[in-house]
Amino acid sequence: MTTPSVLSATGIRAVEVVLPCIELDPTVDFFVDRLGFRLDVIMPADDPAVALLSGYGMRIRLQRGGTGDPGELRLACDEPRAGGADLLTAPNGTRIHLVDAKPPLVIPDSPPLFELTRDDGDVGGVGRAGMRYRDLLPKRQGGRFIASHILIPDAGPVPDYVHHHRVRFQMIYCAAGWVRVVYEDQGPAFVLQAGDCVLQPPGIRHRVLESSAGLEVIEIGCPAEHETTAEHVITLPTPDLRPDRVFQGQRFVRHAAADAVWEPRRLTGFESRDTGIGAGTAGLAGVRVVRSTPSGLQANESTGPAGKVTPGSELIHDGELLFWFVLAGTATLHAQGRPDEPLGKGAAVAIPAGLPHQLAEISADLELLEVTLPATLELRAVEH
Ligand SMILES: [Fe+2]
Repeated sequence: MTTPSVLSATGIRAVEVVLPCIELDPTVDFFVDRLGFRLDVIMPADDPAVALLSGYGMRIRLQRGGTGDPGELRLACDEPRAGGADLLTAPNGTRIHLVDAKPPLVIPDSPPLFELTRDDGDVGGVGRAGMRYRDLLPKRQGGRFIASHILIPDAGPVPDYVHHHRVRFQMIYCAAGWVRVVYEDQGPAFVLQAGDCVLQPPGIRHRVLESSAGLEVIEIGCPAEHETTAEHVITLPTPDLRPDRVFQGQRFVRHAAADAVWEPRRLTGFESRDTGIGAGTAGLAGVRVVRSTPSGLQANESTGPAGKVTPGSELIHDGELLFWFVLAGTATLHAQGRPDEPLGKGAAVAIPAGLPHQLAEISADLELLEVTLPATLELRAVEH
C-alpha cells in the first residue's frame, strides 16, 4: 500500500470532491443544516459561485453551473435510520445514502448444495497479492462458504501487507511447498510446511511473507464474500506472545503435521489427525486429515467390531458443511441419485446434509482434508 510516487513531489495538502449545482444557496444550506457540514469558504462575495464545505474528514467543493453527475455520498452512521430515511437527495441532485457504520456480518441462509470440482490443470484467475486461485466450490454453497486452491508458482517474497478479515470461519492448509507467515500476538514469523494448517480467527492481523516455488494452499472461509481490511498501525510481529488470546470467540491454531498424532477413526479402515481447530473455534468447525490405515481396508471390513461403521455403509449427516479435498490417492464417491464420481488428487466435494453417500474403491494411499461445521459431525449409517 504505497502512495503513487508520480505525485509525491507535488505536496498534496487536501482533496476536494467537486459537486456541480445549479443554485448554490439551497445546496449549501442542505449540507450545513441537514448533514452537519461546515461552510469554510464562499466566493466571490458579490455573487457566490463556489462554496467549500468540510466535515467527517472530507471536503466538498460545490460549483454553481458545473456540469456532470451530481454524484453519490455514503454516510456511515451509528444509527442510519434515526432520521427516518436512509436515502436523501440534495437540492443539486447529489444522492446521500445513510448506511450502517458497523453492519452485522451476514451469513447467507442458503441450503447446502452438492458440489464437486476436479483439478483440471487450470491454474485459475489471479487474485489478491498475485496469487492464483482455483475455485473449489463455484456455487459457494449459496454464498455461505468459499474454498480455494491457491497456487504461488514462483519462489520468493509475497507482495502482501498486514491485513485482517471479517469472517465467521477461516482456515488455511498447506498442501505443497512452504510459506512463511506472521500472525498478531503469535510470536515471530514461522514456516507453514506441507501438511500444516492454521486457523485464522476473525480479525487477527496477519501477513504472508514469502513462499517456496510451487506453494499450494487450501483456504476455506465463511461467508464466501468477506472484507479484507489493510492494517496501517499495527506492525508484525507484535511484541507480545499471547497464544491464548481470544479473537471474537476463537483462538489462533497452528497445527504442525510433524507433531501430529494419528488416531483410529470411527469409520473403520481410516485414521485421522485432528488439527485442534475444533477446540480453537469452541466447536464451530473441525478440520482433520483422514487417510487409509496402513493395514488396509479389507481386513477391517471383515473384522470390524459390532457397532462400528464399516466402509460400504451409506452415511448421512445433518451438519452445515462436510467438505473433502483429496490430498493423495483415489476413491469413488457414491452419492444417492448421482452417477458414481471418481475422485483423484485435487478433487473437492461438498456433501449436503441428508444426502446418503459412501466412499468405495479406496486406494491405500488415500488422504483427505476434511472440514466440517460443526466440529463434531454426527454421521449415521443409512438403514435399508
Ligand atoms: Fe489473509
